[in-house]
Amino acid sequence: MTPTSETPGTRLQPPRTARAFTPAAGRFAPTSLYDPVAALIRERLWRGLLAMHVAPRPAEVIVDVGCGTGSQALLLQRIEPAARVVGIDPDPRILTVARRKARVAGASVDWLQGMGDDLVDVLGAGSADTAVSSLVLHQCPLPMKRAILAGLHTVLRPGGRLVLADYGLQRTRLMRTAFRVVQLADGRADTQPNADGILPSLIAEAGFDQVREAEVVSTVTGSISVYVARRAGG
Ligand SMILES: C[S@@+](CC[C@H](N)C(=O)[O-])C[C@H]1O[C@@H](n2cnc3c(N)ncnc32)[C@H](O)[C@@H]1O
Repeated sequence: MTPTSETPGTRLQPPRTARAFTPAAGRFAPTSLYDPVAALIRERLWRGLLAMHVAPRPAEVIVDVGCGTGSQALLLQRIEPAARVVGIDPDPRILTVARRKARVAGASVDWLQGMGDDLVDVLGAGSADTAVSSLVLHQCPLPMKRAILAGLHTVLRPGGRLVLADYGLQRTRLMRTAFRVVQLADGRADTQPNADGILPSLIAEAGFDQVREAEVVSTVTGSISVYVARRAGG
């Protein structure tokens, strides 16, 4: 990876602009509610499945885009302490929570502030072995979903892996109804394409190969899918 490095936990480069994003707990709830609410949506199961597909290895560089309070990045580092895990999020308040959790856990994740479409500027092309992102794309407008996926493709080395967990195709009436809670929090315009099952085609459009929905976990807020894909080459 090309570190734009300074002290871990400080911003490496200023964001291009202070741009709008939906905060972790949605438009109406405070960030402090995020972790307690996440625990109610079978978090251990889908985070564990994401980690299983990542299967972190020593010295591997793993980037977590939209890392939020850092739960996924910290889990990956706990599984393989010799991996270099980098968490990126545009929200400075949520990064404060992530840093605190890392301190308590004695983990050494690098936390960077940045939007998902600034990834290449922040990390450098071809710098990561694996890229992960969880519960981010459903909160983003369609052009941003595309820009983040394009950025993820570019920051991965050839042969690098993408593992995403997010609300995907809502297959049943029950799951579509449950997903309305998320749509209320995050807005219908950004979330509906996910519910309609757009993610696999967006991932493929960004240039990834071997795209598949590997897991589907039903939760009280709709089903969360784990998608895996590869950057060609390597
Ligand atoms: C629902 S939270 C998920 C956090 C974390 N990935 C997890 O699994 O708990 C969504 C996160 O995405 C971040 N986010 C929103 N828009 C983003 C964007 N355009 N690029 C990168 N991160 C973004 C938010 O700040 C928030 O922390």
